[in-house]
Amino acid sequence: MTEHLRLPAELTYKAELDALKAGDDGQRPHGWVLSPRAAVTYILGGTARDGTVISPKYVGNRRLIETAVATLATDRALLLLGVPGTAKSWVSEHLAAAIAGTSTLLIQCTAGTDENQIRYGWNYAQLLAKGPSREALVPTPLLRAMETGKLCRLEELTRMGSDVQDTLITVLSEKMLPIPELNEITYAERGFNVIATANNRDKGVNELSSALKRRFNVVVLPLPSDMDEEIAIVVRRVGEMARALDLPAPRNVADEVKRVVAIFRELRSGATLDGKTALKTPTGSLSTAEAIAVMIGGLSHAAFFNDGDLAPESLSHSLLGAIVKDPVQDQAVLGEYLETVLKKRSDFSRYYAALTDAL
Ligand SMILES: Nc1ncnc2c1ncn2[C@@H]1O[C@H](COP(=O)(O)OP(=O)(O)OP(=O)(O)O)[C@@H](O)[C@H]1O
Ligand SMILES: [Mg+2]
Repeated sequence: MTEHLRLPAELTYKAELDALKAGDDGQRPHGWVLSPRAAVTYILGGTARDGTVISPKYVGNRRLIETAVATLATDRALLLLGVPGTAKSWVSEHLAAAIAGTSTLLIQCTAGTDENQIRYGWNYAQLLAKGPSREALVPTPLLRAMETGKLCRLEELTRMGSDVQDTLITVLSEKMLPIPELNEITYAERGFNVIATANNRDKGVNELSSALKRRFNVVVLPLPSDMDEEIAIVVRRVGEMARALDLPAPRNVADEVKRVVAIFRELRSGATLDGKTALKTPTGSLSTAEAIAVMIGGLSHAAFFNDGDLAPESLSHSLLGAIVKDPVQDQAVLGEYLETVLKKRSDFSRYYAALTDAL
């Protein structure tokens, strides 16, 4: 049997979704796999009626997820907004899996995305052989979502040009897509909707036009509000990812996560955790997602090069890579942080030594 590196949420969490579905007697909007309440339980965790434990996928404010789910039951589309690494794509995937049963109708928007990737394209061999016909038409994930009443995910919506973004306006307001070449109109089936994500930090993005903005309800996903919440997120995701990658997780993982998250939060907020010392902040975003990546990098290094011992020395190079994005400016910021803060903390002495060494 072949083994896939990663499966979509609806397959990875099939058992949980099936259990929720079996015990779900809530009212379901047309075309939905689960009721809104069960969809929220799938995302935030809980227990299904038969006792199956539903693992929390997103850790954070319940209201945000309720708003997101409620929006998708209306005729408005959902826009998940936030700084990098706040689980926008992750939440979008799980929402689509829970609500539509499939999360793979996905369009990654880039500066090079054109209308053909949003509306439909043509198979030129068929087009030449048969002329414009349904067989020659290549439907995009958006068109397929409309035809089947599913959710279409648009990743990084603001990266594509504003003119291309605006092709969505008819789809979102009229729920139809004209195909003039065939003299046809595709009307969206009930259940169809769009989940878009956008990052409000990256430079060079194209602002959403106000006409398009009005068709979205915006849910802003925040950075974890307190340290314990962020540690819990990182520990949980590192555990899950280490298992998926067959990396052994040593017992001290949680302690090291605490230290890495402390460093991240101090540098991100520009002040030490006790609020006493002001710090310069690096240019990168130092998101929770990057803290997770640092830990996974460290676990892999520890497993293969350090006899499974997760030491600060195994983490320091990934940590350095996450903090120093601009080789000049960020090195100075980190150097100052090491000398004024970490040097004085006995429980960070190995981090101080390993990072000074690596810098
Ligand atoms: N509050 C949270 N709860 C659960 N997981 C989280 C949370 N915040 C971040 N993560 C984890 O962070 C990782 C990255 O998230 P994701 O890729 O969805 O971020 P993003 O907001 O789409 O970032 P980008 O703007 O860079 O695309 C995921 O593995 C996710 O599990
Ligand atoms: Mg993303």
